[in-house]
Amino acid sequence: MRKVPLTDSLRIIGRGSLNWLAQRPIVVSFEVTDACTCWCKHCDHGGPRDESRNLRPPEYARYMEALRPCVVQISGGEPLMRDDVAEIVRTIKGSPRRPYTILVSNWSLMTEEKYLELRAAGIDQFSVSLDFPDARHDDFRVYPGLYSHLSDLIPRLARLGHDDIVLNSCITSENVGEIDRIADKAREWGVNLCYSAYSARRTGCRDYFLNTPAQLDELNDLLDKVEARRDATNWIVNAPTTLEATRRYFANGGTPGCKAGLRFLVVTADGALQPCSMQFQRYPLEDRDRMIREFTRTNECDQCYVSIRSYLDKSFPQLLRENVREFLSVK
Ligand SMILES: C[S@@+](CC[C@H](N)C(=O)[O-])C[C@H]1O[C@@H](n2cnc3c(N)ncnc32)[C@H](O)[C@@H]1O
Ligand code: SF4
Ligand code: SF4
Repeated sequence: MRKVPLTDSLRIIGRGSLNWLAQRPIVVSFEVTDACTCWCKHCDHGGPRDESRNLRPPEYARYMEALRPCVVQISGGEPLMRDDVAEIVRTIKGSPRRPYTILVSNWSLMTEEKYLELRAAGIDQFSVSLDFPDARHDDFRVYPGLYSHLSDLIPRLARLGHDDIVLNSCITSENVGEIDRIADKAREWGVNLCYSAYSARRTGCRDYFLNTPAQLDELNDLLDKVEARRDATNWIVNAPTTLEATRRYFANGGTPGCKAGLRFLVVTADGALQPCSMQFQRYPLEDRDRMIREFTRTNECDQCYVSIRSYLDKSFPQLLRENVREFLSVK
């Protein structure tokens, strides 16, 4: 993936340091809609939802001013279902701090025109979910033809040379045997890969967790295989310590020490603050301090190790060393 120029990286580091000290979030995830084009087996979203109370694009400016994140994720539901998503991106990027901005999407509605429009609006990184390196992806996401659409579009857009596409693969019991082939697919398509880990917290279903010694052995063997092929490119975006922590998460059935609400938080489609996408306590924008007091300070939940957490659980020096080098990829 494109390396972030040193000047931009220093700007993000400087702001990250200020936010760390001021107890402001480093990353904010705006879930711009609850509706989705897919019905994924591992997720609590799926299909249409009430969209009448969604924030309008100009309203995002107030959240940016109050929260001042260094990194913004635009997610959902499926963010590309919003016709005004480029306007939301422009509002977010128009804030004085110009955060590093990631679109997290299943790409069912992505086209070359939309990709170029969103790049122009200010998206720095396109995170595209991929659960299988073949048409089993369609079955898992309950969206016929999705894999074929991705396998046509992703390599074509990668060849434009912007180096801003990262596959996002959530490891489950269903796809654990495929994680090396998913890495090969990223190479073949000319994009990078970020692994994430299944949490049963979204749906309450433990079937997709790695529950057996055989599944854990398979995870370790295949991650060893991928790790052995790491090279100077940013092909595998996760830091080695993050993949180590992912192994421990599955082996131990959880990871304590979560900083949801403090280091990162979610803004729901209708504008409430939530500590994360799987904790549904809602707070008004003005009550973030209360969320930290009531939720973060007493939080004992250890039920996920998704990317946003894995970046931000670390100590500040480790965050700087690893996330800036690996996640933001300083030249
Ligand atoms: C909730 S989706 C929203 C954005 C978009 N619809 C997509 O799928 O990329 C964001 C990411 O969460 C992941 N996800 C969904 N359910 C999950 C779960 N139970 N545990 C961990 N990650 C999950 C998806 O695979 C996806 O990569
Ligand atoms: S993972 Fe994304 S695409 Fe799948 S149902 Fe959830 S929100 Fe929709
Ligand atoms: S571990 Fe943290 S981020 Fe994950 S579900 Fe629990 S509170 Fe949310």
